[in-house]
Amino acid sequence: MKLAVVGKGGVGKTTLAGLLARVWAERGYRVLAVDADPDANLASMLPLDDGAVRPQPLAARRDLIDTLSGRSVLPGGMVLLNPDVGQVLPELRVSWGGGHGLVSLGWHKGGGQGCYCAEHATLKRVLSAVVTGPVDVVVIDAEAGLEHLSRGTAAAADAVVVVVQPGRRSVETAFAARALATDLGLNRVHPVLVGYADAGQVEQVQQALGDWPLLAALPWHDEIRRADLEGRPPAIPDPLQAPLQRLALTLIASTPTSRP
Ligand SMILES: Nc1ncnc2c1ncn2[C@@H]1O[C@H](COP(=O)(O)OP(=O)(O)OP(=O)(O)O)[C@@H](O)[C@H]1O
Ligand SMILES: [Mg+2]
Repeated sequence: MKLAVVGKGGVGKTTLAGLLARVWAERGYRVLAVDADPDANLASMLPLDDGAVRPQPLAARRDLIDTLSGRSVLPGGMVLLNPDVGQVLPELRVSWGGGHGLVSLGWHKGGGQGCYCAEHATLKRVLSAVVTGPVDVVVIDAEAGLEHLSRGTAAAADAVVVVVQPGRRSVETAFAARALATDLGLNRVHPVLVGYADAGQVEQVQQALGDWPLLAALPWHDEIRRADLEGRPPAIPDPLQAPLQRLALTLIASTPTSRP
């Protein structure tokens, strides 16, 4: 299964993607975590294996981008969109949790450099090809906003989780995300609430979502924020265990996979 975690900026996408990856890993699934945010930080949520260093995002690997896009071989600014992704993935992979994979594919252009259609088209290819290895679950941590949906990068996903926090703005973004996902033919789009303070907030968010049911709700917990402050992967706090385990199982059970 390939799961894309999307949503408004700062709502908890990376936190949720990292926690889900760890829960699946603990349950015996072979997990590939994909950081698709050029401002990469999914590695901070995962226990990297001995000797593994935080991966450099593709955004920082001009050499690989040029190889992937064929930019260097075509004259006249034309870009070739048939990257040999198999060639670069091993170079980008780092190991965590005893052999699970993490690749950092975040990618952007500097300010004022115009359209980056070619980069997104290539990223789309990379994401489609990413399950060629022995992997059961791919978790994609998207960059903030709707870029991966509006550009179709997330089309390779089997399911999408849209993270919302207690607040109307992230819920509005979630509806926009669902509309774009539907355009891509993705019908499994589930809102998940992260960082609620009390049951009243869960109820209010569900009301704002109307008949679109929250698939899970994870409370605010100081350990998550403290670990971020201290620059280490958080322990999974007790109050988050049950909703996370249920969410992990529900996603697997309710998602037909892209492989037979
Ligand atoms: N359940 C939680 N309890 C406490 N703090 C949380 C919780 N979930 C996330 N946070 C904190 O909220 C902040 C934002 O989380 P995170 O980085 O996961 O968001 P994001 O959506 O990935 O952000 P960005 O859009 O910048 O990629 C972090 O400091 C994180 O530690
Ligand atoms: Mg993030």
